Amino acid sequence: MPSTPEIVRTVGGLRDRVAAWRRNGERVGLVPTMGALHDGHLALVRRSLDDCDRTVVSIFVNPTQFAPHEDFETYPRDEARDLGAIGAIGTDVAYMPNAGEMYAEGFTTTVSVADPSNGLCGAVRPHFFQGVATVVSKLLLQCLPDRAYFGEKDYQQLLVIKRLVRDLNIPAEIVGVSTIREPDGLALSSRNAYLSDADRKTAPLLNAIMRQVAEKVAGGVAVAEAETWGRAQLQENGFDPVDYLEVRDGETLAPITDTLAPGHPARVFAAAYLGKTRLIDNIPVARIL
Ligand code: PAJ
Repeated sequence: MPSTPEIVRTVGGLRDRVAAWRRNGERVGLVPTMGALHDGHLALVRRSLDDCDRTVVSIFVNPTQFAPHEDFETYPRDEARDLGAIGAIGTDVAYMPNAGEMYAEGFTTTVSVADPSNGLCGAVRPHFFQGVATVVSKLLLQCLPDRAYFGEKDYQQLLVIKRLVRDLNIPAEIVGVSTIREPDGLALSSRNAYLSDADRKTAPLLNAIMRQVAEKVAGGVAVAEAETWGRAQLQENGFDPVDYLEVRDGETLAPITDTLAPGHPARVFAAAYLGKTRLIDNIPVARIL
């Protein structure tokens, strides 16, 4: 029944709730978030509510995945609105630990995932995936859900999490959920709130240019040529800097040189700034044709 979710702030409290559900044979879903929830996050929560008997949404702005110059302090936070949004659709528990509960005094253990963290966001934000891998490992071990839900919006992150769960034998199934977009193609993101009105008008060009790159590559244009074209288009339209625009293997993230072989599961990945706002997106090459 839609209501306010129960707020749990401690690992012990979360374990007690989940253990009680398990004794009743109920399936548990976990949706990790950093709050400032939008319809992209809520699509993950809805999937969990459909698949599982109980759903935990964690809201924790994880300090270890932000570099000192990044936006940890100013990252949007709105607890009351988030609780209303997840409560209205039937979330059972909002897990909201504080930083001291998540990282006890003297915390020195980290999880780093080699392969899928290389390149793309891993190259420009070297601290980032270690912070994500560490906190997601902790969230999975704190909750021990049957399933945990992550967005394809952060595709490299999804692959990193799938790999760590496999490598560390964490007994949870990782489910990827398609990206939710604005009608103009802009992927929903908590950071879209930073965009000025003018930049908000430009922002959908990121996806539009990526789609054109995907069409070129699917049509037989050499990958390097399509990437160069796409980067130049972004720069001409005011994206500065363009961190990357690359076509990569959608399963291994291996770079693709030359032209695309038929049936190759490639994706276009891009990250670029508009003003101070960093936007990222990715799309499959074949599916849009
Ligand atoms: P956050 O950016 O809050 O995103 C939480 C989850 O929502 C992630 O799995 C993300 O991929 C998904 N998501 C965001 N925008 C989406 C969209 N437009 N469509 C579909 N899914 C979307 O990602 C994080 O937090 C953190 O790194 C976290 C995994 C919680 C670890 O701290």
